[in-house]
Amino acid sequence: METAEGNGREPTLVTETTETMTAINSLHITSLDVTARVVTKRRLTDVTTMLVISAPLVSLNAAPGQFVIVRLSEAGERVPISITDFDAAAGTITLVVQEVGKTSTGLCALEVGDEILDFAGPLGHPVELPDSGHAVLIGGGFGTGAIYPLAREMKKRGVTVSAIAGARTRDLVILSDLLEPACDHYHVCTDDGSLGYHGFVTGRLEELIVGGAGYTICFAVGPMPMMRAVADAAKRHGLPAMLSLDPLMVDGTGMCGGCRVTCNGSVKFACVDGPFFDAEGVDFDEAVDRKGMYSVDERLAADLAAAGATGTADPAGGASPDAAAGTDLSAAGTRTRTA
Ligand SMILES: Cc1cc2nc3c(=O)[nH]c(=O)nc-3n(C[C@H](O)[C@H](O)[C@H](O)COP(=O)(O)OP(=O)(O)OC[C@H]3O[C@@H](n4cnc5c(N)ncnc54)[C@H](O)[C@@H]3O)c2cc1C
Ligand code: FES
Repeated sequence: METAEGNGREPTLVTETTETMTAINSLHITSLDVTARVVTKRRLTDVTTMLVISAPLVSLNAAPGQFVIVRLSEAGERVPISITDFDAAAGTITLVVQEVGKTSTGLCALEVGDEILDFAGPLGHPVELPDSGHAVLIGGGFGTGAIYPLAREMKKRGVTVSAIAGARTRDLVILSDLLEPACDHYHVCTDDGSLGYHGFVTGRLEELIVGGAGYTICFAVGPMPMMRAVADAAKRHGLPAMLSLDPLMVDGTGMCGGCRVTCNGSVKFACVDGPFFDAEGVDFDEAVDRKGMYSVDERLAADLAAAGATGTADPAGGASPDAAAGTDLSAAGTRTRTA
């Protein structure tokens, strides 16, 4: 396994090694505690929820930039979710989930005490972070949560940290209470101008660069169109940028090829080589095409799940929404994603 230089430690997918078990024992965790379970739930907006999950094994090994893969039921899909916070002493992992389809809606519907069937991680490479300079972190949507652990770690190292958080409108701005205290400078942008800067995060980024902010590196997490715009803006100003890409993922271990991206002409797998990549070399045309490959299936699965939940349709002969999707297109096992 490669060493993640920035953090001086190896990325470790949870395995019950002697070292891990010694640490686990010192936390007085019993085997029952190892089941991932919701311990706190906070609704952030109509479509976004923060979940604190008891997952001691994952929390012991987590580092900034990593993610988990979650599955809610046997017939369910595996979905990657960034780690917004980790606390090894408490044995918890914090996730911020935005409802976009069947599984993310199911995750947001979990209540305190609910168990999560599969909670695999930490996955991906910890992102390499600087020890000095002025870093600007850009978060859009769920990405506003995902940049928090980077801010916390860089502040600890003495880096000057700025954050730019974007949302469509003021009601969708999330986690200011978490992010603002973790940064030296905090900027909010809304597309409709209802809070903070009126416009996209990239507009504010360029304004701040031109105003002499003196950024030495940029890290961004958000939807693919935002990543592309950040890459273009950073290039225009000669600012090095590391972007977290969110291609379709299935296994999260480099086996299925689903998350293939091309960077500087080389094939990479975002789940094991990323999710952060140097903005300069990313082939965004290919990444955007691949991301849309299953949009028809995804819409159908969400419609079936919603219909099952409201009782307006019975696609699986009265079975639960999960079972309905399992007989159709949405389960990871039936929807084949190839490289
Ligand atoms: C490394 C990484 C980190 C992520 N972090 C977060 C996060 O912190 N919070 C959050 O809310 N979302 C995050 N996502 C996106 C999240 O995985 C998708 O929103 C989720 O998989 C959607 O599943 P669904 O069944 O709800 O929706 P679907 O209806 O299945 O899909 C809706 C859209 O989500 C995307 N998507 C669907 N399946 C996957 C998949 N297996 N892998 C990746 N994208 C998919 C597609 O763009 C799709 O059009 C992350 C994705 C990646 C790759
Ligand atoms: S999700 Fe990356 S190779 Fe399968």
